[in-house]
Amino acid sequence: MSEPRTRVDLEGVPETLLWPLYCRAAESRRPDALIEDPKSVSIAEAIDYPFEENFGRPHIALALRAVCFDAQIKKFLATNPDGTVVALGDGLETQFWRVDNGRVRWLSVDLEETMQVRRKYLPDTDRLHNLSCSALDEAWMDEVDPAGGLFISIQGLLMYLGEDEAWALLRKCAERFPGASLMFDAMPGWLTRQTSGRSWLDVLMMRGRKGKRDDKYRLPPLRWGASVDELRKRLFAMHPAVEEVQDVGYPPGRGLTFRYLNPYMGGAFPIRNLRPNNTLVHFAPNPT
Ligand SMILES: C[S@@+](CC[C@H](N)C(=O)[O-])C[C@H]1O[C@@H](n2cnc3c(N)ncnc32)[C@H](O)[C@@H]1O
Repeated sequence: MSEPRTRVDLEGVPETLLWPLYCRAAESRRPDALIEDPKSVSIAEAIDYPFEENFGRPHIALALRAVCFDAQIKKFLATNPDGTVVALGDGLETQFWRVDNGRVRWLSVDLEETMQVRRKYLPDTDRLHNLSCSALDEAWMDEVDPAGGLFISIQGLLMYLGEDEAWALLRKCAERFPGASLMFDAMPGWLTRQTSGRSWLDVLMMRGRKGKRDDKYRLPPLRWGASVDELRKRLFAMHPAVEEVQDVGYPPGRGLTFRYLNPYMGGAFPIRNLRPNNTLVHFAPNPT
């Protein structure tokens, strides 16, 4: 007999972690899956939550975002097999299990209410540590040993922070971790500005939802955003340690946008400044 499903009572930004979980699990169940993520499937099945009612049909973009981050972390581990990955706002990400090389050390950082849920489904292992700490609190930085190489992954978090908070966090990482790589996703301002009231994201999530719109789940407003070109300019100006900034294109997915437009034309001006982006930053080992 299968285990009874457990309710997850999260609100506000912490509740948003259920959207990417649902999308990865749904993608992983497909015969033509672009991501293999059996852990997300079993966690989503163990949670009693109205995924489809709240989020609509699963969206490929969130599974592709995880594929993008996985690829860069695997690349990092290929040259830094004993490296450390710090995942800020890790939610119920199962990335450690998707990229594990048997040696990587993983520090998951998230808010206490989220960590209470994460620890239940993804408890600590000998190489993975779950830390209750805001990404904005420098205390997590003291837990990091960057000696074997360091990759800081910030997936699905910065857009929920205030503009000053997001830049202060990026700057602090540059200052504290010379030689590290850092990856985050962002949306251009024209998209984030629409998230007060009925947003394009709400419309996107309405796909496949039944019932009236007004009493349905809404994502919290996205507070920070920047386009590819803006990020490039501001990151280089942000700190002398920033030595390389790369717009990491999405891998090919399905459908017109994700199979053709994004992978082949997503890097062209002005398209790159109108779409969500994944940005990889390298900090110089010895900044001058
Ligand atoms: C959209 S979810 C992303 C979860 C995960 N990274 C993923 O992609 O599946 C946003 C996450 O950010 C976390 N979060 C929000 N504010 C935070 C903060 N100040 N410090 C650390 N985590 C935070 C939430 O608890 C949640 O887990």
